[in-house]
Amino acid sequence: MPAEALDVEAVSVRGQQKHGGEPFPLVLRCASPAAKLDQTVDWLAAHASDFEQKADRHGAILFRGFPVQSPEDFDRFIAAFGWENFPYEQSLSNAVRKNYTPRVFSANEAPADVTIYLHHEMAQTPVFPSKLFFYCQQPAESGGATPLCRSDVLFEQMLARCPDFARDCEHKGLRYTNVMPAEDDAASGMGRSWQSTFRANRREEAEQRLHGLGYSWEWSDDGCLRATTPVLPAVREVGPGRKTFFNQLIAAFRGWKDSRNDPGKAITFGDGTPLDRDTVLTVAEMAEQLTYDHAWQQGDVVLVDNYVAMHGRRTFSGSRRILASLVAAEHHGAELHGTEHHGAEHHGAS
Ligand SMILES: [Fe+2]
Repeated sequence: MPAEALDVEAVSVRGQQKHGGEPFPLVLRCASPAAKLDQTVDWLAAHASDFEQKADRHGAILFRGFPVQSPEDFDRFIAAFGWENFPYEQSLSNAVRKNYTPRVFSANEAPADVTIYLHHEMAQTPVFPSKLFFYCQQPAESGGATPLCRSDVLFEQMLARCPDFARDCEHKGLRYTNVMPAEDDAASGMGRSWQSTFRANRREEAEQRLHGLGYSWEWSDDGCLRATTPVLPAVREVGPGRKTFFNQLIAAFRGWKDSRNDPGKAITFGDGTPLDRDTVLTVAEMAEQLTYDHAWQQGDVVLVDNYVAMHGRRTFSGSRRILASLVAAEHHGAELHGTEHHGAEHHGAS
């Protein structure tokens, strides 16, 4: 059967939303019962640029019923799009993860009872992916949905309901502070050590990277590193007149809590002024109301446009295996590999 004969239909799922007449997420179901992975790969490759536009327009695309049965299949499925990989080990993310193939890793090793609040992937760092793929190898026994939220719709609502706060976010930006342990701590959703975050064995190497990225920092007696980002944007323009609430504010405010981190101290506006707690909680509630909870079925693949939709993780029971992969943003290659200075003021204290 040639690639074009693959029978794929747009269907609806429970809880699916509509924004501006477009479904969120877009759901594409493979209706060819004997479809092969080779055929799927050809079909994806032939439509890759179409999917790029659809991901932007819809925010997320669910591929259901395609023959993806292992991390290796998932790797081939992703590679078919022809987009550049964003290697997790080179990111500045704070989650502990495990690699399965060079571009496929566990979504987050945090325990089942830890909620991961809505966020744009790595928007708390200067280097973030443009898109993400998730793949369900094994759904949880109960719970474990992936909440998805259109943050362009959220920002529109913020402009109507808390316009001063929305504009402060847009004009001042945000700075994030987090404390990284000396060794990976898998019991925390943000337990990645400073060594693996900065791919450094010695403090001097970590400092060189911090400096290059415009961070300020402080070492504590127990070997932990407290790092504060340069001012990062909180709002992103994704099209003419279309803006998204592109940051990790909700996740940092509600979830950056472990033995080292206090969410109350994790985030300020770019000028150092504090955020009004009640307003942030109102925005978090607005986002929750806008959320579509994706209930996983084995073999599901979800493509998320990281500039348009936030994601998170509900708590669960049983063993849940969701794998992830990241797509690089075209202009970020140099930042990923280099340690060049970005013009940000150096606040380093070692
Ligand atoms: Fe994430």
